Amino acid sequence: MRRPILAANWKMHKTTGEAVAFAAAFVPMVVDAAGVDIAIAPPFTALDRLGRALAGSNVSLAAQNANPEQKGAFTGEIAPGMLADLGCRYAIVGHSERRSFYGESNALVANKAAALFAAGIVPIVCVGESLEEREAGRTHEVVGSQLDGSLAHVPVARAAELVVAYEPIWAIGTGRTATPEMAQEVHAFVRRRLRERFGAAGDSIRIQYGGSVKPDNVDDLMAEPDIDGALVGGASLDPAAFSRIVRFETK
Ligand code: PGA
Repeated sequence: MRRPILAANWKMHKTTGEAVAFAAAFVPMVVDAAGVDIAIAPPFTALDRLGRALAGSNVSLAAQNANPEQKGAFTGEIAPGMLADLGCRYAIVGHSERRSFYGESNALVANKAAALFAAGIVPIVCVGESLEEREAGRTHEVVGSQLDGSLAHVPVARAAELVVAYEPIWAIGTGRTATPEMAQEVHAFVRRRLRERFGAAGDSIRIQYGGSVKPDNVDDLMAEPDIDGALVGGASLDPAAFSRIVRFETK
């Protein structure tokens, strides 16, 4: 049985004051949410203050990115150990916005994921196809090669802890969600690939769906057998909406 993981990706939203106000509203709303892992990835600037506001709660702190090096002359970058120092339990890597706007390759994502594991942080590795790739029938090819490349250095002994997020690019921030059936079809493919790569640990790896997850579609998505959680952008900015997502209901 995989424990669902619901994570907020705030992207470039919220000042420190807004992040702390969110925590004050959100933490009481999810205090009795049992059997799920909950995480929030604020901008780097809010990690410290949000981490303090979440201390002692059932909501974990996450980062949106990390540099693969542990220290050195890398102006503007943040090392995994610095994130661990602030109490981050997870870090998102390979988000499609970073792949497309900042040219991140699978090789770079693989190095980030390995460096995070080494620092005691669980990477949330994102993969997903563009609309053009889907329409050309290349979804499995694209997602498969992203998985192979981005997970190249995951230590097999730690693989069960890994989180993968399948986020079709055409569904991110567009209000156009994959249907539960479309998402499940790709999640099942991802699961097979993870089993081939990591053996039995592939059954323990949690695979989140991301792309316009909202209170009104989360229940149907979470009912699918290989959808183990959600990575939520827009709807995670509102405490009531994100708490409803955390409290998804499956029949
Ligand atoms: P969205 O973003 O929920 O706003 O579509 C998801 C993501 O990019 O992680």
